[in-house]
Amino acid sequence: MENRAMWLTFFFTFLISISTAAHSSGKKQIEALSRIYKEKLEGNSRIDTSHFNATHHHILREKFINSQKGLKEKDLIERLPGQPQVKFRQYGGYVTVNKTAGRAFYYYFVEAQRSEKTLPLLLWLNGGPGCSSLAYGAMQELGPFRVHSDGKTLYKNKFSWNHAANVLFLESPAGVGFSYSNTTSDFKSSGDERTAIDNYVFLLNWFDRFPEYKNRDFYISGESYAGHYVPQLAHTIFIHNKKAKTNSINLKGIIIGNAVINDETDVKGMYAYFASHALISDATSDQIMKYCDFSPNATTQTDKCNEAASEADDNVNDIDIYNIYGPLCHNPNITQNPKKTTSALNMDPCSDNYVYAYLNRPEVQEALHANVTHLPYDWKPCSEVLQKWHDSPATIIPLLKEFIANGLRVWIFSGDTDGRIPVTSTKYSIEQMKIPSKSSWYPWYLGGEVGGYAQVYEGNLTFATVRGAGHQVPSFQPARALSLIMHFLAATDLPNSSRK
Ligand SMILES: *[C@@H]1O[C@H](CO)[C@@H](O)[C@H](O)[C@H]1NC(C)=O
Ligand SMILES: *[C@@H]1O[C@H](CO)[C@@H](O)[C@H](O)[C@H]1NC(C)=O
Ligand SMILES: *[C@@H]1O[C@H](CO)[C@@H](O)[C@H](O)[C@H]1NC(C)=O
Ligand SMILES: *[C@@H]1O[C@H](CO)[C@@H](O)[C@H](O)[C@H]1NC(C)=O
Ligand SMILES: *[C@@H]1O[C@H](CO)[C@@H](O)[C@H](O)[C@H]1NC(C)=O
Ligand SMILES: *[C@@H]1O[C@H](CO)[C@@H](O)[C@H](O)[C@H]1NC(C)=O
Ligand SMILES: *[C@@H]1O[C@H](CO)[C@@H](O)[C@H](O)[C@H]1NC(C)=O
Ligand SMILES: *[C@@H]1O[C@H](CO)[C@@H](O)[C@H](O)[C@H]1NC(C)=O
Repeated sequence: MENRAMWLTFFFTFLISISTAAHSSGKKQIEALSRIYKEKLEGNSRIDTSHFNATHHHILREKFINSQKGLKEKDLIERLPGQPQVKFRQYGGYVTVNKTAGRAFYYYFVEAQRSEKTLPLLLWLNGGPGCSSLAYGAMQELGPFRVHSDGKTLYKNKFSWNHAANVLFLESPAGVGFSYSNTTSDFKSSGDERTAIDNYVFLLNWFDRFPEYKNRDFYISGESYAGHYVPQLAHTIFIHNKKAKTNSINLKGIIIGNAVINDETDVKGMYAYFASHALISDATSDQIMKYCDFSPNATTQTDKCNEAASEADDNVNDIDIYNIYGPLCHNPNITQNPKKTTSALNMDPCSDNYVYAYLNRPEVQEALHANVTHLPYDWKPCSEVLQKWHDSPATIIPLLKEFIANGLRVWIFSGDTDGRIPVTSTKYSIEQMKIPSKSSWYPWYLGGEVGGYAQVYEGNLTFATVRGAGHQVPSFQPARALSLIMHFLAATDLPNSSRK
């Protein structure tokens, strides 16, 4: 037991030290993820890792829908401080997801740049657990704006996904970003299951607030730990649609990137990636593969495993593990004027700090209709109020298989310079699913360049890499990410020729 704890300490502290060295604005997505892995893999973990199954949930519409009359109009955002002119509508506000506890989720919604009446609705979730979809998804990845280094003005992201869909960003669970609970004990009992239920109740209410989207094609997307949230929410919708014998939510597909899918292959693939990308030696890697037990039931690790894991830890300590060739943030301070080099094509590693400064401005919160209850803590990119995580299955493969068996579109993508949940992890996890493939592995193209590689499987499953992208794919390769989401939404294969 002690050996295991030691190994895990080595294994996880390196991730934490990197992110705190590089960022001052609070916890990072990556840090939150390593915390949960650490807890889960501890022999005496109190985290329930059994399979997720919503069959026993009975979420009755009548009981969970509150009156939404007039709320949509109130949520319309006139204009965000420092925002350039745009033609699409934006909304932001709260949806109560649990009246007794006083839990309310904050959402930010951007309608499509054109054809908003016909384009699909796409929900985006970030991971953590505990990280905000406003911090990452909306403000650093696929949203229409990015925050300048002055922390107070915005510029356009011309590769925003609202060129392809109406995009809904949700801060979830309660305790993340502006989403809150009036019952503070909720912060000690959060977990995958409650998150899925609250997300589902959010959607039921949101569709009542925005009835014109009720029958629209609906897709769920996300990255990292949202590899849990996205399938769990989709499964909850699927089960409740089946019970009600009607597609009350018109779910068509899911897409997850650099996603936590299967703990065993995720961790094993991480070390395989470190070795194949010359971050650790082959000797260290061989020792890890030989002596570490990655199975979800492992309770102890050998000294040889601990020793090699600690060596790996030292080797990768000073690089940005979720974008292994990228620069670090050396000066987290916001600047008087926007930096001259600013461009959506050139991800600034200090962006977290600009977003932190921006979203904590009282006039920004007012424009967003956020923080209406005057929360007693700052808005943070990753929650510092969530304290314990109750449940997190060791694998979500059974859910993915259920979708595939039922014809739901499933795309899994991977930025190939992420070392945290790298492409090797995702490849191993997909192999584990044992789905026959329909195409061979092929390069896909955008603008005469290879955008990445793809493989199409039976049952509407597609795996696609995005070349040169780190953990947050749309941050690092915005054009390729937009092309990816367009093909996903259109259900067309990524082009196998540069002439298309
Ligand atoms: C509301 O949340 C609490 C936990 O804070 C939970 O015990 C209760 O079942 C939830 N209520 C409903 C109606 O889901
Ligand atoms: C939480 O408490 C505040 C202050 O009492 C109240 O205004 C708010 O409506 C409550 N939130 C929910 C979701 O019940
Ligand atoms: C882990 O243990 C559970 C029951 O405790 C068992 O069902 C499962 O097959 C085991 N998994 C592995 C990989 O040994
Ligand atoms: C950031 O700002 C603080 C406080 O104004 C200052 O002390 C520090 O030197 C600045 N850091 C850098 C790297 O400029
Ligand atoms: C909410 O507003 C209060 C001031 O009323 C501020 O101190 C706090 O940092 C804000 N919290 C969040 C999460 O925005
Ligand atoms: C959930 O449980 C039901 C009933 O036990 C079972 O039929 C179904 O296959 C399970 N679904 C998944 C995805 O495990
Ligand atoms: C794949 O999706 C299409 C709709 O886009 C559907 O018609 C077809 O049945 C699905 N295929 C499988 C094998 O589920
Ligand atoms: C390329 O894709 C098209 C359809 O998208 C397909 O018909 C063709 O067979 C593919 N070519 C190769 C060489 O895989």
